[in-house]
Amino acid sequence: MKKRVLGKTGVEVSEVGLGAWQLGADWGSPLSIEEAHRIISKSVEHGVTLIDTADVYGAGRSETIIGEAKKHMDGSLFVATKQGRAPGWEPTYEVMKEHALASCQRLQVETLDLLQLHCIPFSVLQQGDVFLHLERLQKEGIIRFAGVSVESVEEGLFCLQQPVVSMLQVIFNIFRQKLVDALLPQAAEANVGLFARVPLASGLLAGKWTQEHRFRADDHRSFNANGECFNVGETFAGLPFSKGVALADEVKSMLMSEEADGTMAQRALRWVLDHPAISAVIPGASSLQQAEDNALVSGQPSLTEETHQELRAFYSEHIASHIRGPY
Ligand SMILES: NC(=O)c1ccc[n+]([C@@H]2O[C@H](COP(=O)([O-])OP(=O)(O)OC[C@H]3O[C@@H](n4cnc5c(N)ncnc54)[C@H](OP(=O)(O)O)[C@@H]3O)[C@@H](O)[C@H]2O)c1
Repeated sequence: MKKRVLGKTGVEVSEVGLGAWQLGADWGSPLSIEEAHRIISKSVEHGVTLIDTADVYGAGRSETIIGEAKKHMDGSLFVATKQGRAPGWEPTYEVMKEHALASCQRLQVETLDLLQLHCIPFSVLQQGDVFLHLERLQKEGIIRFAGVSVESVEEGLFCLQQPVVSMLQVIFNIFRQKLVDALLPQAAEANVGLFARVPLASGLLAGKWTQEHRFRADDHRSFNANGECFNVGETFAGLPFSKGVALADEVKSMLMSEEADGTMAQRALRWVLDHPAISAVIPGASSLQQAEDNALVSGQPSLTEETHQELRAFYSEHIASHIRGPY
C-alpha cells in the first residue's frame, strides 16, 4: 500500500482509505457489527491506515465500531470524522466542542486525528466563526487537524483560503471531472490535502447493475435517488440512476479495454488515484471482497494516457450535462 501526505497535516496516510458510512448500517444491506469489524480488519491487513467516518453514520455506530476496532490493533489508524449534521448541531464553539467530545468518547480517544465540517451550508462557512472554533478546539488539544467536506468547487475554493483547513473532502470520480481543472491544482498549490469521496458513484462505477435493479427502501440510493433528503450529488454522483447505468456501460468498455488486470470498480478507483493532488480515495465497502479489492488498487498500474483522454472527452460530451445539484 502506497502512502501520500495529507496536505498541511504532514501526516502520511494510505492512498486507499476506507469509507465508513456503510459501517453505520444505515444503507444497503445493513452490516452486522461483526461484519463491520471484519471489513476494518481486512482493510488494515491490506495496508489501509485511513478511515473516514462521521458522527451521524448510524447515529454514532460507525464511530463506536471504529473505536472498538482500534483497541485491538497493533498499527496506527488515522481516523477522520465529521460533525455538522447531527440533531442539535449549531455553528457555536460550545456545540462544536460538545459534539467533538462525543466523537472522542465513541472513538475512545482524547484527541480527534481530524475533524471535518460535514457539508454545512455555504453561508455558515462564509460567516467564518466555524474556522475560529476549529482553531480553538485545535489549541485545546481536542482535535489534531481540521478539514471541510464540501459540495461544490465554489465552497472548496473558499475553504482553501482558511489557515486552519488542512484538507478538503470532495466528490470526485469519472462522472465528476470538473474538479480536475477547477479545484485539484488550486488545492495542490495551497498544500491542502484532498479525500475523494463517492469514488464509485455509490456503486454505479462498478458496472454491476442493470436498469431493473432496485434498492431497499431504507437505502439512500432509493430514498435520495433524486436528492429528496440531502444533496443529490451524494447519491450516484448526481446522475439519474437509469442514465448512470447506461453511462457506466459505456465507461466500462473504455476502462476494461486495457490489458491491465482488475475489475471495473478497481479501474475506476485507479482513475481517481492517477491524480496526484488526491491524497486518498475513500471508497465505502459493504463486503470483505470489496474491502480487499479496493485496497489492492494501490498496487495496480495507472490507466494509460489514451484512456484518460478518452474518458475526459466522454465526460465533456456525454456526462457533464446530466449531473444534478451544486457542483
Ligand atoms: N458528505 C460527506 O462528507 C460524504 C458523503 C458521502 C460519502 N462520504 C464518505 O465517502 C465514502 C465513500 O462514498 P460512498 O460509500 O457514498 O460511495 P462509493 O464509495 O462511491 O460507493 C460505495 C458502494 O460501492 C459498491 N462497491 C464498493 N467497492 C466495490 C467493489 N470493489 N466492487 C463492486 N462494488 C463496490 C458498494 O455497493 P453495494 O453496497 O451495493 O455493494 C458500496 O457500498 C463513504 O463511506 C463516506 O465515508 C462522505
